[in-house]
Amino acid sequence: MPQYPSRVTEPANIADLERLAAERLEPGAHGYFAGGAGDERTLRRNADAFEGWELRPRVLVDVSEISTRATVLGAELEIPILVAPVAFQLLAHPDGERGMARAAAAAGTVLCLSSLTSTRPAEVAEAASGGKRWMQVYLFRDRGVTRAMIEEAAESGYEALLLTVDAPYAGRRERDLRSGFQVPAEIRAPAIEVAVGHRSLTTAEVFELVDPSITWEDLERLCDEFDLPILIKGLITGEDAALAVEHGAAGVVVSNHGGRQLDNAPATIDALPEVVEAVDGRIPVLLDGGVRRGTDVAVALALGAQAVLVGRPALWGLAWDGEAGTRRALEMLTEELRLALALLGAPNPSALSTDHVQRRA
Ligand SMILES: Cc1cc2nc3c(=O)[nH]c(=O)nc-3n(C[C@H](O)[C@H](O)[C@H](O)COP(=O)(O)O)c2cc1C
Repeated sequence: MPQYPSRVTEPANIADLERLAAERLEPGAHGYFAGGAGDERTLRRNADAFEGWELRPRVLVDVSEISTRATVLGAELEIPILVAPVAFQLLAHPDGERGMARAAAAAGTVLCLSSLTSTRPAEVAEAASGGKRWMQVYLFRDRGVTRAMIEEAAESGYEALLLTVDAPYAGRRERDLRSGFQVPAEIRAPAIEVAVGHRSLTTAEVFELVDPSITWEDLERLCDEFDLPILIKGLITGEDAALAVEHGAAGVVVSNHGGRQLDNAPATIDALPEVVEAVDGRIPVLLDGGVRRGTDVAVALALGAQAVLVGRPALWGLAWDGEAGTRRALEMLTEELRLALALLGAPNPSALSTDHVQRRA
């Protein structure tokens, strides 16, 4: 394992940012952001599994010009790295979701806003009006609440929906159980509160609104009802990926919620090949979970993902230094990816293929 200095003031990589963020955050909030479900096997596995994939560089390829640009669902992005939906960002830094949105816009990528955003979707849109944004949604027991949330997002220029399907119930996050952490009362969930008719809700009450009875038929109904493309976020099997295509999904995000839901599920990077095979090019496949390096992004793209999302890396940047910190996180990943592409002999993301990766023996 590489040796890192124990105290870092100038971050060189995402691991440095993580340590700096841990110093800034109050312990309960840090546990909430950093933690996973159960024994945190899946949380650890997501990042560790990238070590199980090796890169196969090709040499004597002209890499004098490198582009990190990618097109995802018609959106032209500067980098194939999106910002994942992460709840309650005002808890990390006063810049909160506004800062995250501005940093994503500066990097030329998509901000995915959580339905547990602590800032109203319209205000996030205003704060980064030139940026691209997608809205993450849950299907609520009261379909009127889901509809109200989606309509507000559509009016505010959110161009796609991520329907999160791996959280019919909240995972068992034991760090929070031990610390007794609860989201402070001043941090609200306005997207949901507005959708339920301007009522205040505790986080537990919010989770009770989520409908655990949803099935693939509900996805079809949602696709019929709304014009926005709907990506399914939170599947990790080829079987579910095939069903997602059949039932009208515009894309899938291979995700296990950053290890926060079902513990002992496989790492997403190990699940990616079977999903790519099942989807067979019919819709875009994205991935999140454990991406901490530009070389991790390269592995995911080589295995067939069109783009990745990062949750905690962007969040550690935010916690460390607000909008500027998230910008820094995205810049570090971009520079690492640029160098990885150059050293792999792949001058742009679409030049990557399965020939550039192998399983470690
Ligand atoms: C603190 C925290 C809150 C999250 N909140 C949401 C959420 O509200 N909705 C959602 O779909 N995913 C949520 N996620 C999952 C992320 O969207 C993403 O799947 C995960 O963070 C990716 O793993 P990574 O953190 O290793 O990059 C959350 C993740 C974290 C760490």
